[in-house]
Amino acid sequence: MTSARTAYRASILHSIADPAEVGIEASYEYFDDGLLIVSDGRIEALGEAESLLAELPAGTEVIEHDNGLLMPGFIDTHIHYPQTGMIAAYGEQLLDWLNNYTFPAEREFENPEHAAEVADVFIRELLRNGTTSALVFGTVHKASVDAFFSAAEQRNLRMIGGKVLMDRNAPDYLTDTAESGYQDSRELIERWHGKGRLHYAVTPRFAPTSTDEQLASAGQLLREYDGLYMHTHLSENRDEVEWVKSLFPQCSGYLDVYDHFNLLSERSVFAHGIHLCDDECRRLSETGSAIAFCPTSNLFLGSGLFNLPKMEQHGVNVGLGTDVGAGTSFSILQTLNEAYKVMQLQGAKLSPFKSLYLATLGGARALRLEDRIGSFAPGNEADFVLLDYHCTPLMQYRMQQARTLDERLFVLMTLGDDRAVRATFAAGQCVHQRD
Ligand code: GUN
Ligand code: ZN
Repeated sequence: MTSARTAYRASILHSIADPAEVGIEASYEYFDDGLLIVSDGRIEALGEAESLLAELPAGTEVIEHDNGLLMPGFIDTHIHYPQTGMIAAYGEQLLDWLNNYTFPAEREFENPEHAAEVADVFIRELLRNGTTSALVFGTVHKASVDAFFSAAEQRNLRMIGGKVLMDRNAPDYLTDTAESGYQDSRELIERWHGKGRLHYAVTPRFAPTSTDEQLASAGQLLREYDGLYMHTHLSENRDEVEWVKSLFPQCSGYLDVYDHFNLLSERSVFAHGIHLCDDECRRLSETGSAIAFCPTSNLFLGSGLFNLPKMEQHGVNVGLGTDVGAGTSFSILQTLNEAYKVMQLQGAKLSPFKSLYLATLGGARALRLEDRIGSFAPGNEADFVLLDYHCTPLMQYRMQQARTLDERLFVLMTLGDDRAVRATFAAGQCVHQRD
């Protein structure tokens, strides 16, 4: 059998470590004139074009990408696909926003045709923005998850998703029960978990919308199947935190509710984590749990400022989340733009290389997928993006003044959005090409 080998010649950048652990210089690899060799959907080699071209088997196709950067696909560690059609809903903070906008929008997913339509729009939008993997909320309806996984499977994407578990404090039309939520989740796990590049996440919406019985059943699912994720929200909004304390007076705090039901592990991802005390950060760290930092959402809902340096001090894994539809952009570049400002407001800095890490390898580590995606290590799956330094007149003009890689990267992350994504590849196949 001949292998399907293609080489991409471009300026190539990838993150190889967390700058917080090894310093900036040791955290990335960059080839100004680089070559990425992809074979059978995986990374075969990366290096200087001149030397690799000399050894390339005769007849290998070489695709050239000028005036831009080739890097690993972006990883979004928290997003809600059913909220695609209600992004940019005016005027509320979390709890009113959920009741007034989110729940009515999610009700529509009882119709499988609607779910299929939105899943398709959603996946296209991810790919248009260069995002190749995501950890995704469905709705309470089983069919919402079937629609999402079908759309991801068609494009051979590495994706994680799950059905929302919600058996109280939500409208009747949107609740399951501890028993039906458990059974529906089992059915979906059997159907999708480990199929192709897909993984299942047990997905209690957040502590206030699940009874003790339902949180216990979530823990049971995690014990019954290997490799499942646990995906929920944590300490996003001050009113929410107070509500959780009143609903679970026997627990010492918000995180302790999840801990009590054995929901903290290396495959647990908690969105937000804005209002956490030191003990909670320590507990996240010792259980290997991850936080999804969702700056556009946190600013949009007025939730607060995420303290990334505090998480670094405690050794907590952090990835980036767009959190659409509370988040205001599918673009991880725009998410980094806002993350930088969130740090500025706290007197801290977010270097372009830390941003690169969060958007790629850091996200992969938060999802425990760093042996497959997030960098160009040989053998990894070939998920990557071609970014365009000339995508708008302003970007092109600004890039003429940028002298160094870190300057160009920072400009890309500050001004860039879907327009900067020339093409997106998953497992070596082109899954988006800008017009
Ligand atoms: N907390 C519980 N549900 C949600 C949701 O849908 N979005 C956000 N941002 N926070 C939540
Ligand atoms: Zn969310």
